[in-house]
This record gives sequence, C-alpha cells and structure tokens, in this order.
Amino acid sequence: MIPSYAYQDIAYLIGSVSFVVGLKMMGQPDSARKGNLVAAFGMAVAVFAALFLNAQGFHIINNFPYIVAAIFLATVIGTMMAKKVQMTAMPEMVSLFNGMGGLSAALIAVIEFHHKTAEASGMSADGMITEFSMPVGVYLAIVSGLIIGTISFAGSVIAWGKLNGKIGDYRMPQQQIINAVVLAAIIALAVAHYGAINSGDFSMSYFYGIIGLAVVYGLIFVFPIGGADMPVVISLLNSFTGVAAATGGFLYHNKVMLMGGVLVGSAGTILTVVMCKAMNRSLLNVLIGMAGGGSGGSSSNSSGGSVREVQATDVAIMMKYASKVIIVPGYGLAVAQAQHVCHELENLLEEEGVDVKYAIHPVAGRMPGHMNVLLAESNVAYDKLVEMEHINSEFATTDVVLVVGANDVVNPAAKTDPDSPIYGMPILEVDQAKQIVVLKRSMKAGYAGVDNDLFYNPKCGMLFGDAKASITKLVNEVKAL
Ligand code: TAP
Repeated sequence: MIPSYAYQDIAYLIGSVSFVVGLKMMGQPDSARKGNLVAAFGMAVAVFAALFLNAQGFHIINNFPYIVAAIFLATVIGTMMAKKVQMTAMPEMVSLFNGMGGLSAALIAVIEFHHKTAEASGMSADGMITEFSMPVGVYLAIVSGLIIGTISFAGSVIAWGKLNGKIGDYRMPQQQIINAVVLAAIIALAVAHYGAINSGDFSMSYFYGIIGLAVVYGLIFVFPIGGADMPVVISLLNSFTGVAAATGGFLYHNKVMLMGGVLVGSAGTILTVVMCKAMNRSLLNVLIGMAGGGSGGSSSNSSGGSVREVQATDVAIMMKYASKVIIVPGYGLAVAQAQHVCHELENLLEEEGVDVKYAIHPVAGRMPGHMNVLLAESNVAYDKLVEMEHINSEFATTDVVLVVGANDVVNPAAKTDPDSPIYGMPILEVDQAKQIVVLKRSMKAGYAGVDNDLFYNPKCGMLFGDAKASITKLVNEVKAL
C-alpha cells in the first residue's frame, strides 16, 4: 500500500522518467513523434500532481480557479497557434514559446523574492527590517532565474522578429565591449542587491535595475547576430530558458520542474555546441556577440559571369542517363512542400538504375533537423540521407546535383570571401559535381542575404519556378522519356 504522502513524489518521478524517455526517443526520426507524446504525458502527470497532490496526499492547490482559467486560455491559444502555423514558420513559433518560458521563469523569480522577503519577520513600514539574512544559494537561484529568464525573453522576441523578417541586423560600434559592460553591470548590481538585502534594505530598485539591464542585454545580444548564425542563437536561448526554469524547480523544491529545466538546459547546450561546430563558430564568439553580422545583401556577383537558364526537359534527360544524382534540399523545399514529389522523382530515377542520395546540411531550412523531418514525412529511407561531412567527398563522382530551394548552404562565399557574413561556415561542396541544377524562383538571396556565385558557375543551370511545380515537371518528363 502506497502511503498518500508519497503520491506526489511518485507522480513527479513518472513525469521525470517520461521526459528522459521522450527526449531519448526524439533522437531518432522514426520514434520522434511518439517521444513527443511520451514527454507530453509526463508533463500532464506533473501538472496534475502539482494541482491535486501534496505531501499530505490529495489536496487542491490555492488559487485553483485562476490556475484552471489560465490553463484553459493557454490551451485554446496554443492549440489554435499550433494548428494554424505553417511548417516553415515553426522556428518563429518555437522562439516565441521559448521567450514565454523565459518570461515565466523571470516572473517566478520576482514572486519568490517577495515571498522570501515577506517571510522575514519584523519588517517595518518603510521596507527596512532588522534581522534577516537570505542564504546565498537561495539568492543565486532567484537572481539567476531573473537574469537568465529575462535575457531569454528579450532575446527570443528579437529572434522571433528576425526569423520572420520583421527585424534586421543592427550592430553598434564596439559591440562586444558594450555587451561585456552591460553583463558586468548586471552582475555588479546583483552583488550590491544581495548586500542590501542582508543589511535589511528590501526596496525593489536594485531588482528593477537588474530586470532593465537584463532586457537591454537580451536585445543587444541578439540584434547584431545575423547572416546564417541564427540557429546557434536560438538553441542558446533555448538552453537559457531551461536553466532559468531549473532555478524555479530549485526554489519550489519541485523535482520534476528541476529535472525538466536541467534537461532543456543541457539538451539546448549540446545543440548549441553542435550548431557552433556546424557553423565553424566558437561558442565564446557567439556569447559575446561577435558571430554573424557583416554587410550582407549584395546583389552583384563577384565572378562577372552570367546565369544559364535550363528547361525541365534537358534536366530530365541529364538525370535519367546519370549514374549518380545527389539532391540538396533547402528551405525552398519546405516552402514549396515539395518533399513528396521529390521522393517520387527519387523512386523514378532509382527504377532507371540511378544511384540517388540526399545531402543534408546541419542548418538547411529554418530549424535543426528540418530537412530530415520533411523527408521522413514523405517516407524517404533514412539511409538515403547523408550528412555533410560524409557526402562532401562524393560530389566529385556525382553526375548531377539537384539543388532544391537551397542557397546559403551551397554558397562558395563561405569558403572564399572573408567579408561575407557566412564566411567560415562549412558548405555542401556541390561545385565539385559534373553538373549542377538549381531549382528556385528567382535570383533572390537566401536567409543570409548574400549573392551566390554558384549560380554563375558555368557548370550550373538554373531551373526557375516553384520547387514543387518544377519537380512535378521533371517527374513527368522522366516518365515520358
Ligand atoms: P536559404 O539560404 O534561406 O535559401 C532558400 C532559397 O529557397 C531561397 O534563395 C529562395 O529563393 C528559395 N525558395 C523559397 N521558396 C521557394 C519555392 N517555393 N520554390 C523554390 N525555391 C524557393 O536556405 P538554406 O540553403 O536551406 O539555408 C538555410 C539558412 O537559414 C542558413 O543561412 C541558416 O543559417 C539559416 N537558418 C537556419 C536555421 C536552422 S536551425 N536550420 C534557423 C534559422 C536560420 P527564391 O526566393 O528565389 O525562390
């Protein structure tokens, strides 16, 4: 017989284990959906336990009607947003949700600061008390939740604006120094605040100062980051929110919240490191705001060449009589929702004896694993998806590379132009192949806003049009040959 006082702990244990199992399952495309459901189940159990159980057994939490009303509203809004959002706008939504997580963690810190100080007895009318000392661990949990949560909120809002194109890149002169000064001021204010609390000064001015500076830091930290470096920032902000949530778990002695926060924080940190490696950036440079930037937006090509337009019939002939074709998917594949017809083309070519593979760049699209998710949705076999470091050596022996709505991830400026904002980012070296065909609608730049000399390469042909319409034409042409 389980004693009633253990109900909450058991529920939290179930929640924590579900988070770990769910996260593990999300590591593989074929189990990712189920992993998401397992983690959601864990969260439902944890919420139930927080609302209806405590150390005495069954118990309904204080302010129950307000909490239920908030959950109801959030569920309606969240469901509507999730149903409405286009797959290509998912990263923006994730960024916004991440910002909300940061804001919640910061609000928890504000409320808990009030609680802890109100617990102190003998407070006088002017907010001064005589005998009170806040343990440094408690203050650290409160203030780090406040700072990290606020930075994550402000930064995520800017990241959201950048991802949907409403906000551009802004870099101040001496940006790194300004960032470092603001960060140092936040830390100095927190130290002074702790000293003030323990000498009985509970006034909120330090606290508001910390919040204001953390907002400023969140803004100036993300504003200058541009070009192709946004993926790094997004995963970094994600890990910030995890850490901020973990401090809330610490303050409330809530093990499942602590565990969830630590998982998000550590998973986000690992992803950030992986992204940094993929973009050839150092984490320190990203943290102090040195990554990205650059001018971008150039519209003239440096090679002085001209663009060669090709027709679907010619491309179909090239591919049908090739022995090896590599498809490079990018953001445009997602916009056009061309993954299903792309898989159809792959099947047709394979039936003709052509070896077909997909080259996957780690930041292709707008979110980690974007291309894997899209192609898995259309049942492309996982062993056909080859990561950048493995496929780059294969381009030299490839007859045709079909670039479907990808731009930055195949831009040779990343290797050749030190002034380019994408300089240093490893790319898919498609120019090694015998023939290159690029499917896009115009000569417009990709996410980083820079012109692409690949399109002027004599081996490269441009098949203009929506990717889905162009691939459908290719499928029909291959069938007709
Ligand atoms: P991009 O460089 O953004 O280029 C996509 C290209 O697709 C555009 O040039 C566009 O040209 C074309 N396109 C758009 N809609 C199309 C359609 N319906 N049919 C055909 N083409 C279409 O994409 P990429 O090469 O995948 O690179 C990703 C970029 O996003 C990188 O800079 C990366 O750093 C950044 N980013 C990535 C992430 C993650 S985590 N993956 C997150 C944020 C930012 P047209 O307009 O001429 O058609």
